[in-house]
Amino acid sequence: MDIEAVKKEKTLVIIKPDGIQRTLIGEIIKRFERSGLKLVALKMALATPEMVEKHYTVNSEWKKNVGEKTIKAYEKKGATPPSMDPIVLADKVLSHLKKYMTSGPVVAMVWQGMHAVGVVRKITGATEPLSSDVGTIRGDYTIDSYQVSDTDGRSVRNLIHASGDPVEAAAEIALWFTDNELHNYRLFAETVLYDANFGV
Ligand code: CMP
Repeated sequence: MDIEAVKKEKTLVIIKPDGIQRTLIGEIIKRFERSGLKLVALKMALATPEMVEKHYTVNSEWKKNVGEKTIKAYEKKGATPPSMDPIVLADKVLSHLKKYMTSGPVVAMVWQGMHAVGVVRKITGATEPLSSDVGTIRGDYTIDSYQVSDTDGRSVRNLIHASGDPVEAAAEIALWFTDNELHNYRLFAETVLYDANFGV
């Protein structure tokens, strides 16, 4: 494992239109900021449907993963999913996402630091708010389920998108930000968080 790369890992977070409308921008940023991660890029943007499709398909496995996750979530609750074909489910999810993610501005940001992808996903909580743990952003600040969103014919409203792994993060960051928009600076707190000799 390249420890120096792990210490500098980057991840993309998008506050979705429901997060903006619930006036949770500050609260969400606070949760990530106080973890020790460093904010290195931030913008408000109105996405296009093309951008949303590109964003969700940077990972070629995305459709399969989303479809399978949805089927498992239904089965765990003893419910029947709308389809047993992951790709059919994912195609529907993607078409709903194109409407939802373009319904208003979003806030995109890049967080950097040790294990940034995993830390951000832990703070964010599980995709379906019904299953997100208390203490996570989705668990504390919203309520929704696949069953209700799928029946309503819309995206599950879960406030935030967070990259799934470092490779996906790199591709998503390149989609939303130019290299010039990514800032390179040091926080004083990094001495405590990262320096091997601190306190020795
Ligand atoms: P996100 O973390 O952005 O990744 C994919 C998004 O698709 C997810 O959050 C939800 O907003 C949405 N989503 C995933 N599965 C479903 C589903 N079964 N029904 C509705 N929306 C979904």
